[in-house]
Amino acid sequence: MSALKDVEDLTAEEAAAEHARLAREIAAHDKAYYQLDAPKISDAAYDRLRQRLEAVEVRFPDLAHADSPTQRVGAAPSGRFGEIVHAVPMLSLGNAFNDDDVADFVGRIRRFLGLGEDEPVAVTAEPKIDGLSASIRYEKGRIVHGATRGDGQTGEDVTRNLLTLEDIPETLPGTGWPEVLEVRGEVYMSHEDFAALNRRQEGAGKPVYKNPRNAAAGSLRQIDPAMTAQRPLQFFAYAWGEVSERLADTQFEAVLRLSEWGFATNPMMQRCHGVDDLVAVYRDIEARRATLGYDIDGVVYKVDRLDWQERLGFVARAPRWAIAHKFPAEQATTVLEAIDIQVGRTGALTPVARLKPVTVGGVVVTNATLHNQDEIERKDVRVGDTVVIQRAGDVIPQVVKVVDPDREGRGAPFVFPTECPVCGSQALREHDPRTAKLDAVRRCTGGLICAAQLKERLKHFVSRKAFDIEGLGTKQIEAFHEEGLIREPADIFTLRARNEAGGITPPLQEREGFGETSIANLFAAIESRRTIGLGRFLNALGIRHVGENTAQLLARTYGSWTAFRNAAERLADEAVRAEMLGIDGIGNAAVEALDQYFTEPHNRDLLDRLAAQLTIQDAEAVSSDSPVAGKTVVFTGTLERMTRDEAKAKAQSLGAKVSGSVSSKTDYLVAGPGAGSKAKKAAELGVTTLSEDEWFALVGE
Ligand code: IVH
Repeated sequence: MSALKDVEDLTAEEAAAEHARLAREIAAHDKAYYQLDAPKISDAAYDRLRQRLEAVEVRFPDLAHADSPTQRVGAAPSGRFGEIVHAVPMLSLGNAFNDDDVADFVGRIRRFLGLGEDEPVAVTAEPKIDGLSASIRYEKGRIVHGATRGDGQTGEDVTRNLLTLEDIPETLPGTGWPEVLEVRGEVYMSHEDFAALNRRQEGAGKPVYKNPRNAAAGSLRQIDPAMTAQRPLQFFAYAWGEVSERLADTQFEAVLRLSEWGFATNPMMQRCHGVDDLVAVYRDIEARRATLGYDIDGVVYKVDRLDWQERLGFVARAPRWAIAHKFPAEQATTVLEAIDIQVGRTGALTPVARLKPVTVGGVVVTNATLHNQDEIERKDVRVGDTVVIQRAGDVIPQVVKVVDPDREGRGAPFVFPTECPVCGSQALREHDPRTAKLDAVRRCTGGLICAAQLKERLKHFVSRKAFDIEGLGTKQIEAFHEEGLIREPADIFTLRARNEAGGITPPLQEREGFGETSIANLFAAIESRRTIGLGRFLNALGIRHVGENTAQLLARTYGSWTAFRNAAERLADEAVRAEMLGIDGIGNAAVEALDQYFTEPHNRDLLDRLAAQLTIQDAEAVSSDSPVAGKTVVFTGTLERMTRDEAKAKAQSLGAKVSGSVSSKTDYLVAGPGAGSKAKKAAELGVTTLSEDEWFALVGE
C-alpha cells in the first residue's frame, strides 16, 4: 500500500475522498466484527482507521455529516463498546457569552426561587475542562462500571479503560461514601502529555492528534485497554449522578468530599457571592488559562445550595442551576469567494459565505453563515471582500465584519434573491401578525412543490430525534429523492413493497453500494419504525415552530393522534384554539403554524397516506406513577412556598399538564391568596380547588 498522506497535507478534495474511503472501510469492519463475528483486522488497526477519519473531520468539519461513523460516537454509542444506560441522565450546560448573560443567569435563579433582593445566592465557579465527560459508578465502595456521556441517556461501557487512569480508583479509599455513588467529571490530557504523545505517534508514522481533547477521546475509546493504559489521561471530578444519600448541603462541600474519596478535583473552584464576584473569578481564570497546562474553554457556575439545585431542576437537557461562561470565540481573516443561498426545511433562505479555506482554532473553515438579508446589508458584506470570521465551540462559524469596507474597486452589493433558487417560487418576508414587524428571514412559498424543502423535510423525518431510520441518512434520502423513489414520507414505508413487486428498476438489491444484506437491513430498519410514539411522530412532521419539545407537549396534552389531529384541523374554532394556547409552553407561533399546516389540503392528504402506513402510539404522561400524571392543573393567586414558574415546572415533571385557563377539562385549580376569576370559574364548573398545602400533600411533598 502506498504511504498515506499526512492529514495535515490533504486538500479539501483529497480529504473528501479519503473520508469516504475510511467510512467505507470502517463500515465493512464493523459488519465483519458485529454481524459476522469475524474481524478481519486487529483492534489496534481498526482504531487507527477511526483516528485517521476523526483527524480528517477535525480539519474538515463539513465532512462530519450525519452518515459519518463518527456521528454515532458523539451522539449515540458507537456500537463497539457495550452500552450503559445512565441512572441519572448526563446533561449539558447552557452558555453565557458575556457579563450580561451571567447577570441574567443569576436573575433567573432569583426569580425562579422567589428570593428577595437581599437574600445572598452563593454560586461556585470553576474551570470548564475541555475534555470528555465520564460517569463512574461505585457500589459499596467498589467500581461497578464507567461510561462515556454518549447521548446523555446511554453511554459506552469504558470501565476497563477508565480503570487505567491513576485518578480513578477501583475501590474507594477512606470511609463515609454512600453505598451507591456515581462520580462524574472530565477525562482530559495535559499539554505536555499531548505533545509527547504526538511525538511518539509521529515517530511511529501514525497520525497525530489535532488537540488534547481529541487525543483524550481517542485514547479513552481504544478498544484495547492496554492501549489506553499507555496514554496519560487524567480526570477531574466535578459532579455526581445517582447517590444513595446526599453528599453534602452544598456543591462546594460535595466536591470536597469527592476529593476526600481519592478523586482529583480542580483547585481553582471557588464559592462566589454575586455577579461581580463571579465575573472577577472568570477574568482571573481566563488570565491564568495559558499557564494551567491543560485546555479549558470557559468557567462553569453552579448554584451552591443543593436543595436549591433540586428545586431549580432542568429545562430540556441543561440544568437551571448551572451555566458555562465561555471564553471568546477564535477569529481569523480570509476572503469571501461567493455567497450561496440554501433553502431549508421550512423554506428559509439562508445565505452561506463560501470562504477561502482558513484555519480557526485548529479547524479548517470553508463556510460560514451570514444569517439573513438584513445581516448582509448591515455588515455590507460583498463577494471579494476580506472578512473576519469566528468560531466558538461547535457553533457554525460566522462572518463578523468586512476588514476594509472603504477600499476601492469593491464588488457590487449583494442582491438577495426574491425567488427561491431551487423551485423559482416567490420568496417572501412575512410580517409578524402581532407586532407587524418584518421577519428577518425570507422564505420560499413553494411548500411541497419546492424540491429543497421536500428533501430537507424528508431528511428531518428520518433523523435521529424523529423516525431514526438506520441506514436511511442524508445521502440515501438525496439519492432516493432525486430518482423519484421517495417523494413523501409515506413512500419510505411502501419502498419494500414496490421493490418486491418489481416496480423499481433495477431492483435496489442489484445496485452498486447496496446488495442483498444491506437492503434487507434497510427494510428491517424501516419495518421496525412502523410503530412510533405520538411525540416523535409530531416532531418528524417538521412543522415550523413545532420542534421536539413542543411536539412532546402536544402529544402529552392530546394523548392520541386522532385527538390531536381533530384539534389541529379545527383551530379556526376559537374554543379549540384557546385550549391549545392554554397549554403552558405552547405559543401563538406554533398554533399559527399548525393551523396553516392543517388547513393545507396537500398536507392533510399526505398525512392520510402516511398514517395509513403506521401505528401511532398514544403518548404517556411523563411520570405515570405520580397522582397528578395526565391531570390538567391551573395555578392561580399568590403562591407562598414556591414561585409560579417553579410550580409549573414541578407539576410538569410529575406528568401533569399545566394550563393557563380553567375549563371543564381542568382537574385541579391550585389557588393561593388573591385568586380571583379563575377560582370563581372553577367553582362554577365543579373543578377541584386545592390550597398550596393541599397540592403539596397530593404530590407527596
Ligand atoms: S458540570 C449538570 N462542570 O461541559 C451539569 N461540566 O457543556 C454537569 N464540563 O458535558 C456538568 N468542565 O463534559 C461541569 N467543571 C465542569 C465542567 C463540565 C467541563 C463539560 C461536561 C459537560 C459539558 C457541558
